[in-house]
Amino acid sequence: MNIAGLAGYDRPVPRYTSYPTAAQFDAEVGPAQHRAWLAELNETSAALYLHVPFCKELCWYCACHTAAVNRAESLEAYAHALGVEIDRVAAIAPELIVGAIQWGGGTPSQLGASRLVAIAERLALRFDRLSGAEISMEVDPRYCDDEVVAAMKEIGINRASMGVQDFDPTVQLAINRVQSIETTEAAVKRLRRAGIAQVNIDLVYGLPFQTLDGLSRTLQAAVALEPDRFAVFGYAHVPWMKQRQALIDTTSLPGPALRAEMAALVARHLGDADYVQIGLDHYARPRDPLATAAATGRLRRNFQGYVVSDSPWVVGLGASAISSLPRGFAQNVASTARYVAVLETRRLATARGLCLSDADRLRGEIIDRLMCVNAADIGSICRRHRVRPAEFLAGIDTLPKLIEDGLVVLERERLSVTDLGRPLVRSVCAAFDGHLATSGGRHTAPV
Ligand SMILES: C[S@@+](CC[C@H](N)C(=O)[O-])C[C@H]1O[C@@H](n2cnc3c(N)ncnc32)[C@H](O)[C@@H]1O
Ligand code: SF4
Repeated sequence: MNIAGLAGYDRPVPRYTSYPTAAQFDAEVGPAQHRAWLAELNETSAALYLHVPFCKELCWYCACHTAAVNRAESLEAYAHALGVEIDRVAAIAPELIVGAIQWGGGTPSQLGASRLVAIAERLALRFDRLSGAEISMEVDPRYCDDEVVAAMKEIGINRASMGVQDFDPTVQLAINRVQSIETTEAAVKRLRRAGIAQVNIDLVYGLPFQTLDGLSRTLQAAVALEPDRFAVFGYAHVPWMKQRQALIDTTSLPGPALRAEMAALVARHLGDADYVQIGLDHYARPRDPLATAAATGRLRRNFQGYVVSDSPWVVGLGASAISSLPRGFAQNVASTARYVAVLETRRLATARGLCLSDADRLRGEIIDRLMCVNAADIGSICRRHRVRPAEFLAGIDTLPKLIEDGLVVLERERLSVTDLGRPLVRSVCAAFDGHLATSGGRHTAPV
């Protein structure tokens, strides 16, 4: 049996990059709350996430918070505001130790080399950093020339995540992202020659006009570039959130059964090429730190995907960036203009967030384990949270159906996702989501 034969799992579900998800955030968390939470991070290590919401031009499929911005004044104003925000966070938590830095977007290099360097210098001035910290950046191979690579090297980038999505020209035209294999290969070589040895590739299945044959050829060409890791996402079609996706003809999108076949093809192809599947959508070489972390319980899932970290805390900088802190989540204002304007005052740019309740922590821990390692020791998690496991499990209405359909196994209060259930792990997590029924958010296809 495969998941295409199962009824009742077509309901859109969250991606669970956090629990509760961003759909639950509201204005109850503002700058004052965020400031108090950040102050508690002194002498703690945390990852910094810097969001750059700019690209040279927009791909129509893209769900990231970004816009086509090329004017030097706009880029300069944003870079200045980021510097001010770094100073402000450092004034609140001067002893925070940086455990990792992730530059994301958008396309961070769109800021330009000198602005990237200035921001990195400001970070180095304000915070101590753990030695060997991973410093990663999302990179568009179409705009990864010698100048960009030199700037990346100068600011200490040691991992680059490159967007590919699909190499099929028909798919590329339909998503307005034309990028040849040669361009991609040249970018990989340029990065590696400069000593940026760790390279990840992002692919997407479920794109317009994508076929199993075309996806197979994309996988083959991408594997030939020998990336250290892959992230392979199911296309999230959310035109109510991202107007640009309205340019995509929905009749050209693969349906649920084909998407399920595509997900299986990706897992099979990358497995045969000696990549280990990590969590839902990442693949890494067997000796990659991500694979080791998955085996030793140090794998974490955050808003940027799967990461290896001893410190689960993230401080988000930039428009729309989310801080994930011990007591809750805090998200900056999404509008770039508002972000720049707020940082001209003396405040933080926090617009919304969520204070974690005891129930959120318990359910969040279960969902995190399921998303990271496909299993959760419900008994010990419940006991740690002073909740009776039997009572808790009795309240999970859809658990009997998940067990009956063979998606999960419950043995001595330990829940494991089966091979059959793995592609539907988000639907398994949804069973433990205490907010889903009241969630106003619209979500994405389960596979
Ligand atoms: C910030 S972009 C990558 C960096 C760079 N801007 C580029 O395009 O090469 C992050 C990644 O998110 C993924 N992504 C964006 N929109 C998506 C969507 N609607 N559904 C699934 N994945 C998506 C893509 O794989 C993309 O490479
Ligand atoms: S995929 Fe990358 S380049 Fe394309 S719009 Fe999204 S962030 Fe920009």
